[in-house]
Amino acid sequence: MSQHLKKVAILLSGRGSNFVALSDAIQEGKIPARIVLVFSNRPDAQGLEKARQRGYPTACIPPEGRGREPYDQLVAEALQEAGAEVICLAGYMRILSPVLVRAFPERILNIHPSLLPAFTGLRAQRQALEWGARVSGCTVHFVDEELDHGPIILQHPVPILEGDTEESLSERILVHEHEIYPQALRIVCQGKYRIQGRRVIVDQA
Ligand code: GRF
Repeated sequence: MSQHLKKVAILLSGRGSNFVALSDAIQEGKIPARIVLVFSNRPDAQGLEKARQRGYPTACIPPEGRGREPYDQLVAEALQEAGAEVICLAGYMRILSPVLVRAFPERILNIHPSLLPAFTGLRAQRQALEWGARVSGCTVHFVDEELDHGPIILQHPVPILEGDTEESLSERILVHEHEIYPQALRIVCQGKYRIQGRRVIVDQA
């Protein structure tokens, strides 16, 4: 019996390496999903070009001249028109307004390059270095109405080494981002989890 493929949309603003990792895992049959849209707020995002090369439907709405909520309303409509059931933020450099979060409750995932709740916001790797942390890492979580805040699906620690720079640490964290994001999307698309308060309980079967 063929498994239901969840319709996934990916939102990105930059180079799109996490998008590529998700797309590869889907193509390899590791995630029961189909990418129905790759969306960006930036027409020049490298990730959009990579999506076109891979033959995915793409869309871009530039935010200039639009308020935050009207913009997010348009984004929500584009995602709904594409039939998206699950949304993955993959380096999407905008804070989502409640309009968008409420259109897909507990259906939006984000990857963040720290062990949340430490180092939310921009340049998390640099924040970890400046703090003198010994360990950082990455987190995949559901998106709620607060920044880098919703229930955590998966995390992976990465030690901070003597002599690390923002670049070297970011590179080592990225390797694990590309592992845990597909794993988390797989859990969500298979529906093998439930959310209890802040906890995501993953079925071990
Ligand atoms: C990643 O470090 C991700 O954790 C953060 O933005 C970066 C996006 O990189 N949210 P890429 O565009 O997926 O290569």
